[in-house]
Amino acid sequence: MLIRKIEKIVTESHHTKSFYFKGGFDANPGQFVMIWIPGVDEIPMGLSTIGETMGITVHSVGVATEKLHSFNEGDKIGIRGPYGNSFDIQGSKLLVIAGGTGIASLMPVVEVAVKDRDVDVAIGALTKEELLFARRVEDSGANLKLATDDGSEGFHGFVSDLAGDLLSEGDYDQMLTCGPEAMMKKVIELGREHNVRTQVSMERFMRCGIGVCGSCAFDGLRICADGPVFDGEEVYGKGDFNKHRRDPAGKRTPLIPNL
Ligand SMILES: Cc1cc2nc3c(=O)[nH]c(=O)nc-3n(C[C@H](O)[C@H](O)[C@H](O)COP(=O)(O)OP(=O)(O)OC[C@H]3O[C@@H](n4cnc5c(N)ncnc54)[C@H](O)[C@@H]3O)c2cc1C
Ligand code: FES
Repeated sequence: MLIRKIEKIVTESHHTKSFYFKGGFDANPGQFVMIWIPGVDEIPMGLSTIGETMGITVHSVGVATEKLHSFNEGDKIGIRGPYGNSFDIQGSKLLVIAGGTGIASLMPVVEVAVKDRDVDVAIGALTKEELLFARRVEDSGANLKLATDDGSEGFHGFVSDLAGDLLSEGDYDQMLTCGPEAMMKKVIELGREHNVRTQVSMERFMRCGIGVCGSCAFDGLRICADGPVFDGEEVYGKGDFNKHRRDPAGKRTPLIPNL
């Protein structure tokens, strides 16, 4: 495990902060790390920035993420990884669809793909204040589209509905998505309808992160080792998709919407 000092903390919204630390390891867009929060827990986080400086973007939802939010610049965290596979970018015109904190895992692939491809990025959130990385998407050179559930910014409605409108107008080769599973299910269905291949980034409770403990079991797949990035068709038909996850005791429990 690497021990790293938190170099910079950026407050992104009332419940989300980004934490930056020196890397010293290589990673590919879509991969995740296990973050050790001393005395509390070790949790999986997608890398939202990849390079000499690495970053994670953390939505505070429970014990470990709340503790991380209480950290200051200069405090130390442990890092294992990077783990998992990465996005497989195909074609020349991409549609990236992010729900909530999902943009965190997608941002590095946007910044790589936009170098030699036409990339549209649709970001959705409940409200304007919760839209993450809009400026960073614009700075990358990708085309930014926004959606909010309450209509406070951009398209009024779900980002998957905005994606449906974009698909009717554009000729996309591939869609990449990360966010609530209900949203990703809709995106896969849109991909089927418009004959566009979709890759999804999945989340489940994780303990080892390397395919050994079975905590992230998902209908015969291990999210940590077989994913977290899957072809939409690989997960769509699975009984647990958008329905169940395993809790820390390994019990199959209903998935909480929007997490
Ligand atoms: C590969 C991967 C990448 C991730 N990337 C990010 C990221 O970039 N940013 C980010 O903010 N989070 C990310 N997560 C989710 C993050 O790991 C969890 O939010 C975190 O572990 C919760 O820890 P906690 O102790 O704060 O919450 P807990 O106290 O453990 O849980 C709080 C509540 O959330 C529920 N919960 C926790 N995890 C999940 C889950 N995976 N699915 C459904 N319900 C859940 C619990 O049941 C509980 O009700 C990622 C997860 C995975 C597997
Ligand atoms: S977290 Fe242990 S097998 Fe995936």
